[in-house]
Amino acid sequence: MDQLLVALDVDTAEQAFALADDLAGLAGGFKIGSRLFTAEGPAVVETLVRRGHRVFLDLKFHDIPSTVAGAVAAATRLGVWMLNVHASGGAEMMRAAHTAAVEAADHRTASPPLVIAVTVLTSLDEAALGALGVRGPLADHVEALASLAQQAGLDGVVASPRETARLRARCGPAFAIVTPGIRGVEPGQAKPDDQARTLSAAGAIAAGATYIVVGRPIIGAPDPRSAAARIVAEAGG
Ligand code: C5P
Repeated sequence: MDQLLVALDVDTAEQAFALADDLAGLAGGFKIGSRLFTAEGPAVVETLVRRGHRVFLDLKFHDIPSTVAGAVAAATRLGVWMLNVHASGGAEMMRAAHTAAVEAADHRTASPPLVIAVTVLTSLDEAALGALGVRGPLADHVEALASLAQQAGLDGVVASPRETARLRARCGPAFAIVTPGIRGVEPGQAKPDDQARTLSAAGAIAAGATYIVVGRPIIGAPDPRSAAARIVAEAGG
């Protein structure tokens, strides 16, 4: 299913490649985050890209604009399909990320990757956000960050499925909404792990998610391919 992005949150390239092979035809792409990237480096990205997979490089860049621009350019040269930054890095940082992606892609006469912004991590709830000094409803904060990202020229946001419907209404049909925090409807799959704001795959897509990101419910299952197939079926794909 084109909309299903599987988080390869594993420690070795071998495990990642085995999962990618196992999930062929079911996953629409693979997300490489800080765990696998820190362990194995850019080679794991290049190999998956070479094998024809769409790679979402989830390193959530958050730094001064020039540093983020350099990181985005480097990721673009790896051939990633999507990458992300933290919206809380600010408008100038997001504009720099967008420009860097377009310029680096131009150099290799390729399409630029989708550059999206993380709004509020799906592991945080309102109390956790309040402890960080952010007052007011969490959904308002997510919406403000999403609007900032859109104005800065980014292609979309990462947001929990609980905020998806509101963001879809606010940001329009062309803005990508990528939603982690997906948990199954079956008892064994409903475990939230460290996610605080979850929904089923079907619920997230019905709410307007462009892509769903699923990690542990698939890669931690005894049979990842069957788990992915169940999620695809549940999502109506
Ligand atoms: O295992 P699980 O399905 O919870 O994996 C969700 C993935 O999405 C993890 O790789 C996590 O880093 C990522 N993610 C998230 N919340 C965000 C951004 C990314 O859970 N806001």
